[in-house]
Parts: sequence; structure tokens; C-alpha cells
Amino acid sequence: MNEQKEIKILSIESSCDETAAAVVVNGRDVRSNVISSQIALHTLYGGVVPEIASRKHIEKINQVIAQALDDADMKLSEIDAIGVTYGPGLIGALLVGVAEAKAISYAADIPLVGVHHIEGHISANYIENKDLEPPFLCLVVSGGHTHLVRVCDYGKYEILGRTRDDAAGEAFDKVARAIGLGYPGGPKIEKIAKEGNPDAIAFPRAKVADGAYDFSFSGLKSAVLNYLNGCRMKNIPVCQADVAASFQQSVTDVLVEHALRAIEEFRMDKFAIAGGVAANGTIRNALQEACQKKGVRFYHPSPILCTDNAAMIGAAAYYDFLAGKRAGLDLNAVANLKLGE
Ligand code: KG4
Ligand code: ZN
Repeated sequence: MNEQKEIKILSIESSCDETAAAVVVNGRDVRSNVISSQIALHTLYGGVVPEIASRKHIEKINQVIAQALDDADMKLSEIDAIGVTYGPGLIGALLVGVAEAKAISYAADIPLVGVHHIEGHISANYIENKDLEPPFLCLVVSGGHTHLVRVCDYGKYEILGRTRDDAAGEAFDKVARAIGLGYPGGPKIEKIAKEGNPDAIAFPRAKVADGAYDFSFSGLKSAVLNYLNGCRMKNIPVCQADVAASFQQSVTDVLVEHALRAIEEFRMDKFAIAGGVAANGTIRNALQEACQKKGVRFYHPSPILCTDNAAMIGAAAYYDFLAGKRAGLDLNAVANLKLGE
């Protein structure tokens, strides 16, 4: 791998509700990382409204890219490649980033690299952990995905398990809405759970019979809803903090249990986490402690690199670029893009 020359990548991310652009040098050196969040806008509706997300991306994307170049003190003429998320995600939202990346690539004659969003989340770990190299295990827990992945090499992934229904972040968001905390649920549940008792309510820890590493969170969500209904019917006041803490503990236990089994079976000595839910301190600490007990090195991105951002897309694009991957002007957004496609 030739790492002599500096490879400067302008990366773009617009798969959900953040319009983001970054400049990343040699995959690990973040020169700028601009994120325009739409969270306040979608909070009004209790979740992401796809049409509104697309329109806001169109409004913001040029501004965010100009800011990313400016913050990095770089001109477009210095950029070696454009990296863009082309899936999975909301189709209209993805299209804005992909169309923008193609336009810049064509107009400025810069090579284009299409990046898988999950590959981006995994690659966020390379940014602050300069020593991290594959192979390692990575648990990707976000609003749209829950994947346990064996990262065999740069760009080479084996999915060991995935969610059969709701993603972990989706469960956080739905439970938060049910207990009246609003959107986005993850950070709100984490905050209020600090005041609650994680053993107050015995919510289930789901096991998937025919998929050793698969996850299922819809049963847990239903158990929380049933508990809330039961309280209402019996006129028992609901302690939001106890529900939040007990729910969070159930998710944490399931994630730790899967992680430990995979570490043992695949005899891995490195374990990383990624995605929005990886910003959760309770989950991070529990996984860190479990890894420490097994003598496994634990890696995690800082919270700002856990949730959607373009720096992680720049990190992933660098290794794809080195591997010779290039996208043409026929690159299209793919809402349900599979990892490894
Ligand atoms: O990775 P991300 O920004 O977007 C997707 O690719 O889905 O993840 C967003 C998800 C949301 O469901 C949000 O509630 C969750 O990550 N999240 C958290 C925390 N911060 C964000 N979940 C639990 N605890 C947090 N602190
Ligand atoms: Zn994401």
C-alpha cells in the first residue's frame, strides 16, 4: 500500500438527516468535518420526514461543502478524490449527495468513490485510533442498522449477525416516544436513565433461535409498550427514568452477550463499536469492561464520529481509493445497499 503521497479526499454524507462534508487526508487525518443537523426540524414531527430531509439537504449541501474546504484551507483543485455515501439510507436524501458528488467530479475532473454508509461508520474507528488495522470485530449500532461484522481487511467484511426487525437506535427512538421523551430518543433515554434503576423492570433479552449472532429488538419495544399500558390500566404512575434505565440495560446486555460470544468463537483480539448508539456511555462502558476482562483491545469513536458525519466517509473512501475502486457518472443512490456489494 503506497502511503507516500498525501491523498486528500472531499467526502459527502446525506443519507438521513445530517448534511455533512469533510476533508480527510490519508484516511485518518481529518482536516475539516462540517455537519449541518436537521434534528431540530424533524423533532417537530417526532421523527425524520424523508421529503423534508431531501429538501433541506438541497438547501445546505453547497454551503456545507464550501465550509469543509474552507476549514481545511484547501481548494477543490488540491482534492484527489470525492467520496460519497450512495447507500443505504433514504433514497431522496442520498440522491442529493450523489448528484452533488457527481457534478463536482465531472466539473473538476476528480475521481469519484462510492461509499457504503456502514463501511463509513466502521471506518470512523480509524480516525482516532491510528494503530487500528483489520482484522477486528465491529458492532455497528445505529438508527437504521444493527450489524455484528468481522472486518477481515480494508473493504472486506463478513456479516456475522444483523437485526431481524428493529435496529437498536430505532428501538431507542420508539421507546423514547412511548414514554414521552420525543426525538431523537437515544440521547434522551441515556440522560434520564442516569436517574433510574436499571433493575426496576425485568424487560426481555431476546434470543434469535436460528441465528446465533442475529438480534431482535421489536419484542423488547413491545414489552415496554405492554408495561406502559399495564400501568395506565391499573392507574400506576410510570417512572420514566426506571423504564429508560431498564430498557437501556436490556439492550446493553444483549449487545455484550453477542460481543463476548463472537470474541470467543472467532478468537479476535480487537473489538470496535460504531454508529449513533455507540455514543451511549452505558453501552460503551459495558462493552469496554467485557473486552477488558477477555484481554481484548476495545476501540470506539468519540460521540461526534459515532453519529452520521462525513469524516467517516472520507476514511472509508481512502481505503476504497487505494484499492482502485472508482465510480462512474452512472453512480446511483441505492436505498437498501448491502454491505460488500
Ligand atoms: O448513526 P446514526 O447517526 O444514523 C444512522 O445511520 O441511523 O444513528 C442515529 C441513531 C438514532 O436512533 C439515535 O437515537 C441513536 O443513534 N443515538 C443514541 C445515542 N445517540 C444517538 N442511542 C443511544 N444513546 C445515545 N447517546
Ligand atoms: Zn449512520
